[in-house]
Amino acid sequence: MENNNIMDLNAENNTLLINPSFPSKVSLSPAVKIAVMASGNGSNFEAIARAIDSDLLDAKISILIVNNDDCKAIERAKKFGIHYEYIDHRKFANRNSYDKEIVSRLKYFNVECIVMAGWMRIVTPILINTFPNKIINIHPSILPSFKGTKSIERALNSGVKITGCTIHKVIEEIDSGEIIAQAAVKIDIEDDLSSLTKKIQVLEHNLIPKAIANAVNEWRSSN
Ligand code: GRF
Repeated sequence: MENNNIMDLNAENNTLLINPSFPSKVSLSPAVKIAVMASGNGSNFEAIARAIDSDLLDAKISILIVNNDDCKAIERAKKFGIHYEYIDHRKFANRNSYDKEIVSRLKYFNVECIVMAGWMRIVTPILINTFPNKIINIHPSILPSFKGTKSIERALNSGVKITGCTIHKVIEEIDSGEIIAQAAVKIDIEDDLSSLTKKIQVLEHNLIPKAIANAVNEWRSSN
């Protein structure tokens, strides 16, 4: 089953991607230069890299920034031959000085779009106001529900029957910027944290390349 409104991604576990207005591919010319910021696993970073390699997203990941030197995102960057930089927040006096360093690296690579893909740090206006409306975050719930941490666990324990993921622009208020795209998944009676996390990640990996393309296309056409 596939139409503009609903794609059946995985009939076995009833995972539905609800994606009302996105065409299958939005071409970007020139290709968008992206920075990805990740703290851990990096599966969304890899999903973006794969979409680029498969010509589903006209982009280049110019830099991956990580704040943990043992994170799996680094292994993935090596696998894809993507430049990464480890910037250790523990070496900076405060959030502002850390974000200043990040801004200088992002400016150096002249990126147009910044994707926070599992970036487990609060960002300051120093970063946000340098790239207004150009920073995108992936959050594992249907915002505005379950903002903050442990969103999947809280959704599971709350009794809601549907949850999902949201791709949104980053503003100072956490998990509150303009929504670019959302995808939903049914919570089954037998779901636990692990199975629901997997379902949500399938949605995220499918949605993030499309959300990037659409957001970039929109801001380019409004300039
Ligand atoms: C994702 O579930 C995302 O929604 C949240 O952090 C997780 C990162 O996963 N912000 P990964 O590191 O991309 O695998």
